[in-house]
Amino acid sequence: MKKTTLLHEGKAKKVFLTENNDLVIQEFKDDATAFNNKKKGTIAEKGVVNNAISCKLFTLLEEQGVRTHLVEKLSDRDMLCKRLDIIKVEVVVRNIAAGSLVKRYGFTEGTVLEQPIVEFYLKNDDLDDPLMNESHAVALGVASLEELAVLKSRAEAINAVLKEFFAERKLMLVDFKLEFGRHDGGILLGDEISPDTCRLWDLETKEKLDKDRFRFDLGGVEDAYSEVQRRVLGLD
Ligand code: TMP
Repeated sequence: MKKTTLLHEGKAKKVFLTENNDLVIQEFKDDATAFNNKKKGTIAEKGVVNNAISCKLFTLLEEQGVRTHLVEKLSDRDMLCKRLDIIKVEVVVRNIAAGSLVKRYGFTEGTVLEQPIVEFYLKNDDLDDPLMNESHAVALGVASLEELAVLKSRAEAINAVLKEFFAERKLMLVDFKLEFGRHDGGILLGDEISPDTCRLWDLETKEKLDKDRFRFDLGGVEDAYSEVQRRVLGLD
């Protein structure tokens, strides 16, 4: 399958149309941004690493009965995907307090949450992706109540699969962000799952092995991404 025209360029990926109207190619870039584009940089080979990690995790989820947009990994940076009508809702699942949960509600970072927290954010960069509840989402027309219920239960199911998978690889899945889209009357998981979109801490040392190293200038960004790749793909 070949790329035809550029459909969309995001902060971390480009999406191309293909000869097949139902399929797109996601090309993973090395560009990194944080705090809605206020901080910009590149992370060497991030695109290759995130494509590999995402393809592995989406394959795992498919095996566990979660429908995703993944068709196949085409090359180092390219993922062939079903074309989605993206739902403008970012779904965040949290197992451990970190990031904006700490800032917004005063949790102590590292507190293990008794139940995972699922949050919805409006996918709108101009508005800085504000936190929203179901009523906001329905009023804005971005999703129906039924769709939001599907997103929440799908996110919880994905969390259960990923938490166990990462724990087996000595990684704590602190939190992560998902995006979904409509396709052929159903809802599929889209976008990516990678150290850009998850917080992952080493189970023993609690060392941060994700984009927080870039966000907060902690150093060792590339090494952290490669370490996650090594553990996820079982490279030794
Ligand atoms: P937060 O604590 O900043 O709200 O982030 C929660 C999770 O969502 C974290 O794993 C990082 C991920 N995330 C994204 O993938 N994209 C974003 O734009 C934001 C704000 C967070």
